[in-house]
Amino acid sequence: MTEKSELKHIAIIMDGNGRWATKRGLPRSLGHKKGAEVVKEITKAAAEKGIKFLTLYAFSTENWQRSEEEVSYLMTLLRQYLKSDLQELKENKVRIRFIGERYMLDQDIQQLMTDLERQTASYDKLTVCIALSYGSRHEIVAAAKKIATQVKNGDISPEDIDINLFSDMLYTKDIPDPDLLIRTSGEQRLSNYLLWQLAYSELAFTDVLWPDFSAQELQRLIDNYQTRERRYGKV
Ligand code: IPE
Ligand code: IPE
Ligand code: MG
Repeated sequence: MTEKSELKHIAIIMDGNGRWATKRGLPRSLGHKKGAEVVKEITKAAAEKGIKFLTLYAFSTENWQRSEEEVSYLMTLLRQYLKSDLQELKENKVRIRFIGERYMLDQDIQQLMTDLERQTASYDKLTVCIALSYGSRHEIVAAAKKIATQVKNGDISPEDIDINLFSDMLYTKDIPDPDLLIRTSGEQRLSNYLLWQLAYSELAFTDVLWPDFSAQELQRLIDNYQTRERRYGKV
């Protein structure tokens, strides 16, 4: 592969579950349910396409402000997903990681997350990184705090702070930056997702709602990505 077409890491903002359901006269919860099934399909497709990292925005720090009913349903779905779907991924030797403010999640969910991470830590075919209770500004502030503490303790000096050191303080430590960001549902914004990591990513927006997203649509966006020239500020 040429440098231009390298595609190691795809990040996705899985948006439009609610609208998908509302359009059909269904409760929003059914949109989330269908959306969770699509996650399985797309993960499988990514593995088949030889993608090394897939980072999925499942729940943002801002999503805690949704109704208690919706949050509680999403947490139920998440438990199911962690217990069954991800177990299946484990059998396919997919490495699972989580990024986000995990302390905000229920204890049993945190435990399931830690177990899955530990059990899959040695796999390297595809890493699925799930952004859960994730907010990029929180992540950046937490990194700044860690660095400040290290300086205060005399472990590092201010001169040691550079892009690499800063990157290593983020939840995404050791994960290369996304090559391609996809957002479904027609919205064209980042919604507090990977603000640092997306500095030079190619952006792709599709009107398809997440529950209708498919391996074919993923391939269409990948094909479009392959036609782009990534310049990184050079000529
Ligand atoms: C994305 O779908 C899933 C989550 C944010 C949890 P939405 O629930 O945001 O669906 P819309 O945007 O309201 O259609
Ligand atoms: C972003 O979608 C978060 C996830 C997809 C998990 P939202 O639907 O929450 O974002 P906004 O509110 O439209 O910006
Ligand atoms: Mg939305």
